[in-house]
Amino acid sequence: MIERIINTAQDETPEEQQLENTLRPKDFAGYIGQTRLKTNLKLAIDAAKKRGEPIDHVLLYGPPGLGKTTMATVIANEMGANIRITSGPAIERAGDLASLLTNLTDGDILFIDEIHRINRNIEEVLYSAMEDFKLDIMLGKGPSARSLRLDLPKFTLIGATTRTGNLAAPLRDRFGMMHRLEFYSHSEMSNIIQRSAIILQIAITDDAAQNLAQRARLTPRIANRLLKRVRDFAQVHGNGAIDKTVAEQALNLLEIDHLGLDPADRHLLNVILDNFSGGPVGVETLAAVTGDERATIEDFYEPYLMQIGLLERTPRGRKATAKAYSHLGKPQFS
Ligand SMILES: Nc1ncnc2c1ncn2[C@@H]1O[C@H](COP(=O)(O)OP(=O)(O)OP(=O)(O)O)[C@@H](O)[C@H]1O
Ligand SMILES: [Mg+2]
Repeated sequence: MIERIINTAQDETPEEQQLENTLRPKDFAGYIGQTRLKTNLKLAIDAAKKRGEPIDHVLLYGPPGLGKTTMATVIANEMGANIRITSGPAIERAGDLASLLTNLTDGDILFIDEIHRINRNIEEVLYSAMEDFKLDIMLGKGPSARSLRLDLPKFTLIGATTRTGNLAAPLRDRFGMMHRLEFYSHSEMSNIIQRSAIILQIAITDDAAQNLAQRARLTPRIANRLLKRVRDFAQVHGNGAIDKTVAEQALNLLEIDHLGLDPADRHLLNVILDNFSGGPVGVETLAAVTGDERATIEDFYEPYLMQIGLLERTPRGRKATAKAYSHLGKPQFS
């Protein structure tokens, strides 16, 4: 497995988390792009405020680093609501969830990240909580067991997931709003980089920001990471300011090419091209050959490679496109 420069969210250091928090937009005005999502949410929030009610439960889905967690906090800020943040794997027992729910107050937002990883038995507690704001708990065991129904405050659940396919239908159906986060355009990426540069007090020229924007996988998290790496490079090899030449040199050193692919992406594509004649090849096989986890390939590599047209998903597996051959400088036979 190739160590990634532009890795996913999973192995975040405390320092990186700190960076993410500093750079997180607080409201719709600061949140760049995702126009359709913002329009829909604004409408829902305005209407809910007028009625003096919380908004409907929201499910946000899409590849890592596109701004799901950020959007959850933006919604809370725009509603003027408190937000409690947890994640699917962190909720180990039904009792954990029950205590989270009973500690909310009217109008609060409960954010569950990676909601697809919540245990199925625990998930069932959410059904009545979301639908009727009731909590069913079992007292005792065996024949003498009885169930107790508690009233819950009127809260809003915001769930985030990289994959809706893994979500049980009964849970999915209880979200009033489901929104997919899209990859950002190059100009939005450029704006995000400029915005982060201002916050971090980094001097960057327009063309350098555009260069970074081209190579950041259309993903804000990666843009912010690259910005920091390039700044480090600029401090060592120059006066700290980032111009096009410095950006170019730093990104080349990081082995990130002009489409934003890193060595691991290129390795994956090369495996498909060289070992499987361009595919189709099953994802399990690819995972075995590259040493990556299947989930990493599906959640992280593929969405971007498909977005930029280097990879196709077919019923028989993954297939490299003609563009992939030409990007990697290989002739395409057959
Ligand atoms: N629309 C945006 N405008 C500006 N910055 C953004 C935007 N969206 C995300 N970011 C930045 O990208 C970083 C990552 O975003 P966030 O943590 O919300 O992603 P995520 O979708 O929750 O990822 P994951 O699936 O890994 O949890 C944030 O720190 C934030 O600074
Ligand atoms: Mg997140």
